[in-house]
Amino acid sequence: MDHVIRTRNLTKRFGQRTAVDGLNLDVPSGVVLGYLGPNGAGKTTTVRLLAGLVCPTAGSAIVFGFDAADRYDALQRRIGYLPGDFAAYPELTGTQYLDYFAHLYGGVDRSRIQLLAQRFDLDLHVRIRTLSRGDRQKVGIVQAFMHDPDLLILDEPTTGLDPLMQREFHDLVRETRNAGRTVFLSSHVLSEVVAVADTVAILRAGRLVSVWPVQALKATNLEAPFLDHGDHGGPHVPQRLPEVAVRRPPRPDRVVDRDRRTGPARVCAVADRPRQSGPG
Ligand SMILES: Nc1ncnc2c1ncn2[C@@H]1O[C@H](COP(=O)(O)OP(=O)(O)O)[C@@H](O)[C@H]1O
Ligand SMILES: [Mg+2]
Repeated sequence: MDHVIRTRNLTKRFGQRTAVDGLNLDVPSGVVLGYLGPNGAGKTTTVRLLAGLVCPTAGSAIVFGFDAADRYDALQRRIGYLPGDFAAYPELTGTQYLDYFAHLYGGVDRSRIQLLAQRFDLDLHVRIRTLSRGDRQKVGIVQAFMHDPDLLILDEPTTGLDPLMQREFHDLVRETRNAGRTVFLSSHVLSEVVAVADTVAILRAGRLVSVWPVQALKATNLEAPFLDHGDHGGPHVPQRLPEVAVRRPPRPDRVVDRDRRTGPARVCAVADRPRQSGPG
């Protein structure tokens, strides 16, 4: 089976803190993978590793057959990335901002940008600083989807969107999947991943707890408050859930030891400094 994403022992430490701990996850093409975990579980760190923005401490993230940390250039056009803390240049209009990125992607069909903006009722002619939080998030969504990438990597994408726009976004994700694209979507809200994902990977304290086909997760009939703690500090993942398919660890000889690698300095090193304070 074709795997768009393969991680092997993917590990990221910040000083003493292990944000992502030995992640082994395969994502086949044409699925929506919901990456569910409470605040601080390591979702954003995983997403940044997959997008090649930070380097792993150990292990590897292979995306379309390329090491994400080394081949940002090869992957950029094929990936649509929405960061968890999306912040666009406030003095540009939406059009100016998206044109800039369209240029970086080597050109984007303008009508596609227009259609996406209309769909989300977004005015692209005003400066981004005058937009509401939700409307700024929509700019990020348009940026992620506008070049029709093969893989979408989306970190808590519905942050700030009202329920109507959340539904519109979920429709867009389903259409994207139906068109054969792959979507990696992180969220701390169970109802969101259940609404759009085909498979749900549950993360806690940097570790993969279990991987579920979404139908199996629905069939467990867990009470909503048990898992869906969107406003109360994230889902609690119960111990009694059976594991569906957690991969066995790779053979030790196949783990890439980043410290022993040689070669040119990696792009991701620029964005790879410890943060001064607090989780993202
Ligand atoms: N740049 C960083 N420097 C130091 N600690 C970090 C950094 N990024 C993340 N962390 C820590 O790693 C853990 C996972 O964070 P994160 O990936 O943001 O989780 P999530 O997105 O699931 O809320 C947290 O304990 C967080 O404080
Ligand atoms: Mg996060």
